[in-house]
Amino acid sequence: MNLPVEGFSKLSKTDKINWIAHNCTDNPENTIKLLERYWNTDAEVQKLHDEFIENTLSNYYLPFAIAPNFLIDGELFAIPMAIEESSVVAAASKSAKFWLEKGGFKTEILGTEKVGQVHFIYKGNIEKLKSFFDILKPELLSSVSSITKNMEKRGGGINNIELRDFSDKIDGYYQLHCTFETLDAMGANFINSCLEQFAATLKEQATLFDAFSDEEKNIEVVMSILSNYVPNCLVKAEVSCPIAELGNSEMSAEEFANKFVQAVNIANVEPFRAVTHNKGIMNGIDAVVLATGNDFRAVEAGVHAYAAKEGQYTSLTHASIENGIFKFWIEVPLALGTVGGLTTLHPMVKLGLEILQHPSAQQLMKIVAVAGLAQNFAAVRSLVTTGIQKGHMKMHLLNMLNQMGATEDEKKQLVEHFKHNVVTNASVQEALNKLQSQ
Ligand code: MEV
Repeated sequence: MNLPVEGFSKLSKTDKINWIAHNCTDNPENTIKLLERYWNTDAEVQKLHDEFIENTLSNYYLPFAIAPNFLIDGELFAIPMAIEESSVVAAASKSAKFWLEKGGFKTEILGTEKVGQVHFIYKGNIEKLKSFFDILKPELLSSVSSITKNMEKRGGGINNIELRDFSDKIDGYYQLHCTFETLDAMGANFINSCLEQFAATLKEQATLFDAFSDEEKNIEVVMSILSNYVPNCLVKAEVSCPIAELGNSEMSAEEFANKFVQAVNIANVEPFRAVTHNKGIMNGIDAVVLATGNDFRAVEAGVHAYAAKEGQYTSLTHASIENGIFKFWIEVPLALGTVGGLTTLHPMVKLGLEILQHPSAQQLMKIVAVAGLAQNFAAVRSLVTTGIQKGHMKMHLLNMLNQMGATEDEKKQLVEHFKHNVVTNASVQEALNKLQSQ
């Protein structure tokens, strides 16, 4: 078992690597070599990555790929994606191509509001708290004027501050529920700075409010933090076409459209399916969120909360057939930024944003929603026609061959062979054995 280590963060990078290699791995020499092999050859770039987080030893690669041919509101995009799952980019590209010929994706921003809260405990008369809040509100706003000045110049800032009463749920629990417009910034730092100042002003002003008793003056701030639930930072993306254009080699256009709508309806009413359905959507969303340096954990948390907003977890996409027209759409909350954070620091993120033609946060919301919708279209299309494994295993073939130690020549021959044969672990191993014994 490992022994506890004192002051690990203060060790040099070399000492950290030595410690981990000798204490936690079987072959320290190999561990050190591996960690060093993944360092960037440019010392400046490596230093930049080292400083993103604490205790950095090396880098952890994900493939950075492009899904081209996305026609979004009449403009063509090649979308950068960072993801390890073999079939995701191929599926996105296939979907993009399919809809390119049918007018592409149409999008709409339904809201851009961000949320933050000061959670506090007040033991006293509610009417007095309400009167205090009326006086407090302008004080709160002026207390953050130095923080909000630049954001306001650009048209953003604080939208509103509300007093919310949760004292029926937890004794004395109230909130300052605040909404923000953070423009092209994701806004976490801006929001949290405002909230922490609100909390200080709230406490200070309470001590000066004459109508409060001594106990009422003693407001206890529990915490001040943004919320990743952003149901009003919402984007819609949609595709549609006459049913007749949905024909494929597996079934008639009509049968396909009906099965597709059924599949989406099932995800709408059945949480076990909805979770997997939405996971497929997040394959597309997370990949673009990561490639553009955004916080995929925040997006994931907000999206899943939105999927459960009616009290049951449900699909993020919807599909309909009306008057011979097939329509498929997504509505998804996305708090994204195209300035601040990693966007001007991480060289690959800068490239990702450049490839997307330097989008505003609203444009990025549209692109990300489209990536989710396209991914879901590809997944559901496979599911209701050939099944998912055929395409998935084909894409996974190279991973399996690499794992089995196939040479470049063997890989080439077997990729050809499996164009016409079913890919399973056993069939690939068997074919490789056969090839190697020839
Ligand atoms: C796999 O990563 C995603 C799918 O399971 C999504 C779905 O079932 O809709 C294929």
